[in-house]
Order: sequence, then C-alpha cells, then structure tokens
Amino acid sequence: MKKIILAGIAATVFAGAAMAGAHGSMSDKRVASMKEIGGAMKAISDVAKGNAEASDATVAAAMKINTLAKQVPSWFPEGSGEYRAKANIWTDWAGFKAANDKLVAASADLVAATKTMDSAQIGAALGATGKTCGGCHETYRGPKPS
Ligand code: HEC
Repeated sequence: MKKIILAGIAATVFAGAAMAGAHGSMSDKRVASMKEIGGAMKAISDVAKGNAEASDATVAAAMKINTLAKQVPSWFPEGSGEYRAKANIWTDWAGFKAANDKLVAASADLVAATKTMDSAQIGAALGATGKTCGGCHETYRGPKPS
C-alpha cells in the first residue's frame, strides 16, 4: 500500500517537472507574468464594456499592470531566447526597452483613468494600453511554436 502511494507521488512530481520544462524556466516565468498582465487587462475590459462596475478592484488591476510592466526588462536576461522570444530583443535591446516604456507610460495613464470610475475614460486608456502590447509583440514576439 505504502509503495503504491509513493509511486503516485513520484508520478505527480515528475509530471509537474515535465510541464515546467516545456520551455526554459525564464520563459515560463515571463509567460506566466505576461498572462497575469493579460488577466488584469481582461478584468478592466469587462468594466470598459459595461459588464462590470468600476471599483477599487479595477484600480488595483491597473496598478498591477503598471507594476509588472516596470519589471518586464528583468524577465529577459541575455541568452533566455526560448519559446516565442525573438533574438532581436537582445540585438535591439534599446528598441525593446522603448517599446516597454510605452507600456509603462500607458499603464500609468490607465491607473489614472480607473480612478475616475468612468467606463468611457477607462475604455480609452485600455485601448491605448492594448496598442502597446501589440506594438511590442509584433516586433519582438515570434509565432507560437507548433
Ligand atoms: C516590451 C515588449 C512587450 C510588451 C510591452 C508586452 N509583451 Fe507580452 N510578450 C512579449 C514577449 C517577447 C513574449 C514572449 C515571451 C516568451 O515566449 O518567452 C510575450 C508573451 C506574452 C504572453 C504569453 C502568451 C504567449 O504565448 O506568448 C501574453 C499573454 C502576453 N505577452 C500578453 C501581453 C499583454 C496583455 C501586454 C500589454 C498589457 C503585453 N504582453 C505587453 C513582449 C511584450
């Protein structure tokens, strides 16, 4: 009985390790953080569309995007070009940083917009923030490997 339980635990641990190793660990970390940004964008989008009321949680979501945005360059150490990160991130680091500065600035405006609790203002600022995501992805993110 004990053996069976232990085997079960080992199988679970190895399955977890295999998943974490799907791409490099740095890439896993930044994809997870980018997805967190995406989740916060979605929460704000629900408010912009009128599907949810603006609240302190909306402001918190915008602040989370702004906080994470400031960390983006630290998620891309030299030589961590796995998964969808393109090599031009490092050959054109200044351009990559400039693309990220646009997200930092737009998300700061988004924080200010959420504080008005006005869905139209929030929607406009969200659109502007979303453009900066696409602006970087277009140049520095490759297609999903199949
Ligand atoms: C300065 C560049 C840059 C900005 C700005 C940026 N991203 Fe990304 N993002 C990337 C790169 C590069 C990757 C791929 C990372 C990897 O594969 O290791 C990525 C990955 C992602 C992923 C992971 C899913 C996948 O398959 O690639 C999501 C989700 C995402 N970004 C959402 C966003 C959202 C939402 C915003 C704006 C609020 C944003 N990103 C802004 C560069 C950026």
